This record gives sequence, structure tokens and C-alpha cells, in this order.
Amino acid sequence: MTIHIGANPGDIAETVLMPGDPYRARWAAETFLEDAVCINEVRGMLGYTGTWKGQRVTIQGSGMGMASLSIYANELIRDFGAKTLIRIGSCGAMQEAVKVRDIIIAMTSTTLSTPSRGILRELNFAPCADYGLLRAAADAAEARGTPTHVGGIYSSDVFYDERPDLNEQMTRHGILGVEMEAAELYILALRHKVRALAVLTVSDHLLTGEALPSEQREKSFGDMVEIALEAAFK
Ligand code: ADE
Repeated sequence: MTIHIGANPGDIAETVLMPGDPYRARWAAETFLEDAVCINEVRGMLGYTGTWKGQRVTIQGSGMGMASLSIYANELIRDFGAKTLIRIGSCGAMQEAVKVRDIIIAMTSTTLSTPSRGILRELNFAPCADYGLLRAAADAAEARGTPTHVGGIYSSDVFYDERPDLNEQMTRHGILGVEMEAAELYILALRHKVRALAVLTVSDHLLTGEALPSEQREKSFGDMVEIALEAAFK
């Protein structure tokens, strides 16, 4: 047991999928895992362990933002021995060519700051995904025929951003989409020598204002979960 995860040693698999939303962790576990058991309810941040095609998997909510994700990822890696951590979540598109419902596989994540700032200080560190996972996820997405983009994303600290000029610079520099967690996940994985990736579904579009209606979210999010699972066990 840790401060934020009420699981027993051994309850958590080496492969962990991390949606921001704890209810999405429950939905993904009920939909994709066999024999899923709830292993965490502390603060309502639900986590489940079960099997997918015979492989043990944990799906643990991370909460929103890098500060929250950092707590769960640190405990999963340092206390529970997680070796592969894949964020599954939503993002806002920042390029015309990226459409709502498309998948983004994040090669890198740009940020203004992360909880690791205290360690990295003035260094403009480049948080990047595990290449093997990235490649496996891109292959899995291609095999499914899911419209998918692989490239850089932006991990923001603010959802209600009052600096539109910064988003414009992201678009100008080819950033595919914005979310709020991946950069710190990548930095922690690199620091602790484990594998990390973010597979994201585009839920809204910053350039067009389009947003995915809630009833259409499930199918798109399902593609993302399966791509993440296939990548983890390739
Ligand atoms: N997650 C989904 N859409 C987002 C957006 N527009 N900004 C930040 N995080 C998001």
C-alpha cells in the first residue's frame, strides 16, 4: 500500500494503462479485461487488474494534470514495480490535418514546466516516448486502419488557457495536439528506466471548435485502448 494506491504488493501488473478519468479506467477494465478486480479506490481514483489475451494488465486512473499523474506514476513505478506505462486519454487537435476521433501517438511532449522542473531546472529537456512502444502502437493502428498521427504533442498545465499566442506557436511548430499529462510520464519513465507512451483520442479541435459528442466517445476510445494493449504486448 502507498499513500494514494491502496493495493497490496503483487496486485498491480507490470503493464499499466493510465486514463486520466477513473470512470474510464472502470469502463476499459470492464470492456477489455477478463477477471478484472478493483485494486484501488483511494480518493475515487479507480484501478483494476485483469488479463488481456492472457497477459496481466492494470488500468489505473491518473487524474488530470501532470501533478496528479506524477503521484500515481511514481508510486506505480517505485513501489509496485510497473515497467510499461501507457497513458490513454483525450486531447485537443492543433493541426488542420488532425480530425476529431483521430488517434495521436505522442513521440515527444513539449511543456512550459513539469513537476520534474525542480530536478531539471533550466534544462530544456526533451521528453520522448519509448521507441519500441511507439513503433508497436503505430503498427497496431495501421493494421486496424484507424486514422492515426505520430509526432509531437504539447502537455499544458492549463485547460482554460488565456495565452492563445502559445497555442499558435505550437500549431506553427507542428505540434499535433494538446493534453495535460504525457510530458511528466515520459520524464519519470526515462528517469526510472521503464517504458512509456501516450496514445490519445482527439476529443476536440482548437482550430475548428469541433468537439466529440459524448455518445460517440466510446468507440473512438475503444480503438485507443486496443492499440495501447497491442503495443504493450507486441
Ligand atoms: N484534453 C482534451 N482536450 C484538451 C484540450 N483542449 N486542452 C487540454 N487538454 C485536453
